[in-house]
Amino acid sequence: MPLDPEPQPVRLSDYRPPDWLVDTVDLDVRLHPNATRILARLAMRPNPKGRPGAPIVLDGDELALKAISLDSTPLAGTAYALGERTLTIPSPPARALVIEIETLVDPSANTSLMGLYRSSGTYCTQCEAEGFRRITFFPDRPDVLAVYTTRIEAERDEAPVLLGNGNPVEAGEIPGTTRHYAIWHDPWPKPCYLFALVGGRLDRVSAPFVTASGRHVELGIYVEPGKAGRAGYALDALERSMRWDEEAFGCEYDLDVFNIVAVADFNMGAMENKGLNIFNDKYVLASPETATDADYANIEAIIAHEYFHNWTGNRITCRDWFQLCLKEGLTVFRDQEFSSDQRSRPVKRIADVRLLKSHQFPEDGGPLAHPVRPQTYREINNFYTATVYEKGAEVVRMLKTLLGPESFRAGMDLYFERHDGDAATIEDFLACFADATGTDLTQFALWYAQAGTPLVTASGEWDRQARTYRLDLAQAVPPTPGQPTKLPLVIPLAFGLLGADGHDMKVLPPDGGNAAHGVLVLNEARQSFLFRNVEERPVPSLNRGFSAPVKLGTDLSTDDLLFLARHDRDPFNRFEAAQTLAMAHLVAATGATREARPSAAPAALIEALGSVLGDASLDPAFVAQALSVPSESDIAREIGRGVDPDAVLAARTTLRQALGTALGHELVATYERLSVPDPYVPDAASAGRRSLKNMCLDLLATAGAGDGVARALALYRAADNMTDRFSALSTLAHSARDAREEALADFYERFRDEPLVVDKWLALQAQIAEPGTLDRVRALTKHAAFSMGNPNRVRSLIGTFAGANPTQFHRADGAGHSFVADTVLTLDGRNPQVAARLLAAFKSWRSLETVRRNSAEAALKRVADTPGLSPDVSDIATRSLA
Ligand code: TRP
Ligand code: ZN
Repeated sequence: MPLDPEPQPVRLSDYRPPDWLVDTVDLDVRLHPNATRILARLAMRPNPKGRPGAPIVLDGDELALKAISLDSTPLAGTAYALGERTLTIPSPPARALVIEIETLVDPSANTSLMGLYRSSGTYCTQCEAEGFRRITFFPDRPDVLAVYTTRIEAERDEAPVLLGNGNPVEAGEIPGTTRHYAIWHDPWPKPCYLFALVGGRLDRVSAPFVTASGRHVELGIYVEPGKAGRAGYALDALERSMRWDEEAFGCEYDLDVFNIVAVADFNMGAMENKGLNIFNDKYVLASPETATDADYANIEAIIAHEYFHNWTGNRITCRDWFQLCLKEGLTVFRDQEFSSDQRSRPVKRIADVRLLKSHQFPEDGGPLAHPVRPQTYREINNFYTATVYEKGAEVVRMLKTLLGPESFRAGMDLYFERHDGDAATIEDFLACFADATGTDLTQFALWYAQAGTPLVTASGEWDRQARTYRLDLAQAVPPTPGQPTKLPLVIPLAFGLLGADGHDMKVLPPDGGNAAHGVLVLNEARQSFLFRNVEERPVPSLNRGFSAPVKLGTDLSTDDLLFLARHDRDPFNRFEAAQTLAMAHLVAATGATREARPSAAPAALIEALGSVLGDASLDPAFVAQALSVPSESDIAREIGRGVDPDAVLAARTTLRQALGTALGHELVATYERLSVPDPYVPDAASAGRRSLKNMCLDLLATAGAGDGVARALALYRAADNMTDRFSALSTLAHSARDAREEALADFYERFRDEPLVVDKWLALQAQIAEPGTLDRVRALTKHAAFSMGNPNRVRSLIGTFAGANPTQFHRADGAGHSFVADTVLTLDGRNPQVAARLLAAFKSWRSLETVRRNSAEAALKRVADTPGLSPDVSDIATRSLA
């Protein structure tokens, strides 16, 4: 039998408990730039739930095996078999035993940034999902939980700081050498994907923290030398996160130290390794001069996210990678709630829904669609998706909406109590809510199993004589790959019926009575709800707060939508009503024939937005959101088929120009009112004022009104913070061709030594919606500031071009598609994970008009047909074409 057959797709239905367990792992890691030696001592025993007499099969990837022994006796070459991806001991004694393994790895040559690698000279690790097997041979699966002790040894000069999971136990010099060591012990059993170590020259900021029950914790954030001054906000966000989790969920920290390390080369945002989070430095480092308000908000959210994993992910982990949403969806929900409490809840909700619609909806509607809990995968790295994270968070939020806050908390309490220390499943999670509340969640669980964004349609009829209002609702979940037919979901629709006075009517709950607290529960394909004692024709406000992640189609008239935009007590739906009006106009404006396109923006829409702008009682951040018209990709999704990105951009720009022109006076007045010389503070209120101010400026410049361009130039030059300076630069780049090049050159000269700011500069240029942009992006790949080796640079330049510049990525001549495909192929040899993500930018290719669709398909086929692809890229290419 061949030892390592081609990897087959992994199926959820094939899950079996591990045959062998690992109780303790003792590691001795001797750091060296090219030959790091890892001595691993695994105390193993047969799993009572496994198959008796089973072999020991350990995963390994690109490891040099130096030695292996069983209970201190070296194994003969015949006693084990080494394959490409596994090490097998075919007939081990069926009892507790100790395996000792010595491996050698080359961290400097590790460009995939999985396993042990170096970032600016610092040794660091990334083990989720399957990176630990690149450090030592191990059963690399999340349901094998062990207690780890790690000794790290290094040159004192090269790595004065040595960090591991858990608590520091011992440290010292190695006499007669230039080396030193540190020993860390993590008392909490964990899967190997949570293992981490760091060694390097790093500066530190720290603070003490006392938990609710009195545990003293030392918090530390480690950054590149000289950057400690930029870690203060992250440290503050960490302290607030820790306090919040105690108050909101009763979750307390459980070690003596909590460390965060910021590195410049990282495949994702950050990683929740137990007691030792490792971050992309983009989500740690901030100063007013180099970071925008959006950067500060992201830092706060991601610091919180990784910290919250300590309970949802680490103390309770996943049984297998199909359960990824168990930790990710839940933890995103928790970080969203945290940010809502720290900032403005409605504005946070609008921002989160915008992200869901722009990233998750297209995924759910294209070839890469998959359920929140997938049933099969070829490469797990490709399932860290908007569906698992963002839609996964929405499913948890729906659970809270359906059960109410107290019952939801009771379910969470039971989850923490019942599953602490477990590797759990979605079934385990749901059972806690079912048991705590006596609710049957069988149908609700379909949200985890069925892919696709449900379409909910609503129409209402008021009967003047009977004084009743009947709301007819229907739902349909579209077919998705591998799922041609769907069952009805449980869809909680928060709602209100507005009377002519703009207030919610006090009406009796409808017949069929599951609408207790302002939530209609739609759980059949079609359902009617009858409201009694309805004295006048109501305007229904449905899916308030975006209570369910669905597309909603209603029979509301323009006047109804204007009414909601003005009066709805739910701020989200006020926003949404205005967006719906704008969208209707934008879709019509891209209509097939030029003659059929409405030329001017509807006066009603402009008036509605004008009244939002003029309403001084509204939160400026909310007003800025209301004024920001649907994105090009939102419009494309609404059109659905035969999309011409140039027509979409034209419609959107025309509307923004119309707004800038029609509202010119108010925009200037608002801009001036909000232009205050106060020193920069990153809090939500100040950030909201800046976002509205800069939105006004951008609309003015787009419209060529109110001296917008001149004001943007002045703001660019005078700004004392990155939010204003970059926003002004962005306005100039998009709306002022003459002033653009000089400003871009100036910006680069100012910030050339700040890689995170250079990223903004790269991304902005990649976004310019002009035919010259592809050549510019190509040229920038040769620029000294660019590197294919750094994921942040690649994402900023190429990722932005492919993901945020539809007219140029989807150029009719196919050159944009070709360029991105070429880049994916180049990058694949170096960093498959980042290459695969870049290729996923093609996900909506089928919705394009014929010429562009053919060119996208050709580019995808060219990638798919290239020999020697990584499983990551091959998987995305194949599924995209299927
Ligand atoms: N678990 C990380 C999070 O909090 C995600 C992550 C970080 C990751 N680095 C990774 C996933 C590398 C896969 C590969 O969301
Ligand atoms: Zn996470």
